Amino acid sequence: MKLVAISGPSSSGKTTVASALHKLFKNSLLIHLDDFYLPDDQIPIDPVKKTENWDCPEAVNFEKFIKCIKDLKSNGTIEERPTYEGEVELKLTEDELATFEQEVSQYSEEQIVFVEGFMLFHDPDIIKLFDINLFFYASYETLKNRRESRQGYNTIAGFWVDPPNYFSNIVWPEFEKNHKYLFNNEDVNDTLTKYALDDLNIQPFKNENDSKLKDLIQWSLDQIIN
Ligand SMILES: Nc1ncnc2c1ncn2[C@@H]1O[C@H](COP(=O)(O)OP(=O)(O)OP(=O)(O)O)[C@@H](O)[C@H]1O
Ligand SMILES: [Mg+2]
Repeated sequence: MKLVAISGPSSSGKTTVASALHKLFKNSLLIHLDDFYLPDDQIPIDPVKKTENWDCPEAVNFEKFIKCIKDLKSNGTIEERPTYEGEVELKLTEDELATFEQEVSQYSEEQIVFVEGFMLFHDPDIIKLFDINLFFYASYETLKNRRESRQGYNTIAGFWVDPPNYFSNIVWPEFEKNHKYLFNNEDVNDTLTKYALDDLNIQPFKNENDSKLKDLIQWSLDQIIN
């Protein structure tokens, strides 16, 4: 069994690509880190912005998540879990899907677990649970535009809609704070360090709007198949 982690900031394309890969590999499992959020009333409140902080590691039950991944590695399977993700639109044409299916046909029985989430690479001990680490990212402007055109997120107790300026106040600063250690000059606009690339085996893809989702899926497949 191979575990493939897909991480990166909000709106970088993780859920879209992980869902497409899960569809292509018939024996694969798909785990969403978002399904391990704490209940709504336990999400930390940002002391300055006075709003729920859904973007910090403390909002997630990592103890439960890590146990789930370790159990999966030792038992080869996991219990069905409820997911809050909802339907994900595939965003591939019939032709594109058929081409991908052809390409993975000789690997389609492989046991692969796709794990996708915004906070998988903030801690090297978590990164080391996975065999392949794909990291999608994009510029502040691109991610802000994508995030702000999104309606909201299902939560355990309801539905979260970002208050005004949530991306610039919470989402981006938390991404920066928890991931700058992976970047040269501790600048998330720079390239990844040698440590991130060679020691942590993180494979980065800059997913701006001039990349097509098809290309991002193709690149991800290439990393997995190689
Ligand atoms: N290269 C791209 N060009 C245009 N739109 C894109 C591109 N990549 C992703 N998107 C769009 O951005 C939106 C966010 O993608 P997705 O939901 O997969 O992100 P995510 O990384 O799972 O975010 P979150 O962490 O908030 O769940 C989707 O509507 C997706 O279609
Ligand atoms: Mg997502």
